[in-house]
Amino acid sequence: MSAGQSMNVTWHEHKVASADRKKLNGQKSCVIWFTGLSASGKSTIANTVDHKLFALGKRTYILDGDNIRMGLNAGGPMLKERYGDEFATRFGLGFGATDRAENIRRIGEVAKLFADAGIITLTAFISPYRIDRDNVRALFKDGEFIEVLVKASVETCEKRDPKGLYKKARAGEIKNFTGISDPYEEPLKPELVLDSDNKNIDQLADDVIAFLKGKGYLDA
Ligand code: ADX
Repeated sequence: MSAGQSMNVTWHEHKVASADRKKLNGQKSCVIWFTGLSASGKSTIANTVDHKLFALGKRTYILDGDNIRMGLNAGGPMLKERYGDEFATRFGLGFGATDRAENIRRIGEVAKLFADAGIITLTAFISPYRIDRDNVRALFKDGEFIEVLVKASVETCEKRDPKGLYKKARAGEIKNFTGISDPYEEPLKPELVLDSDNKNIDQLADDVIAFLKGKGYLDA
């Protein structure tokens, strides 16, 4: 008996097939999974790629760490304010390894729905643990999951520190901070590595577009 059967749920095939949606959208769908340290440039690059794809007439959507953590994957304090104590304790997500795993699991499932809808989905999460990213990869068909390492040293990110979080982490005001007091596990075989230490955002976004074009992702 499958896990689905034991829960009395069955998967429904949609009448409009995923392939038809992609054809209508004139593109293949995929998830472009940006991973890297806080302040490595993930969100900014994802947004620039998004603009460039939009200008090419492509259907895209961004799932972004900070935004998703204010809604779908909100933390305890936010849930407490909206729904009270019990919700906050049971469902609030923080930054320990288990909570990050659940954060990434949910995003992976959401990204899969978007890909099924024929959308090119860009995600920007630190996603520091290899196993969490590999579990997401396993949800997708070959070629549908594009792992992009946004490579920037801790020194570079700490110098940028746009939200002042590295400073707080160094002062011990934020626990489990990736790169300072928590690990970041680089992907072993990412589809693409972006040199965020040395290139500017526009160049890095162009690297992504060139990859997508080269591999035929932007063709119907
Ligand atoms: S992930 O590790 O679970 O993938 P996610 O990308 O959703 O993280 O959220 C990262 C953002 O949360 C950072 O850009 C930063 O603004 C904020 N943040 C707050 N606390 C931490 C922390 N301990 N480690 C990393 N980022 C944190």
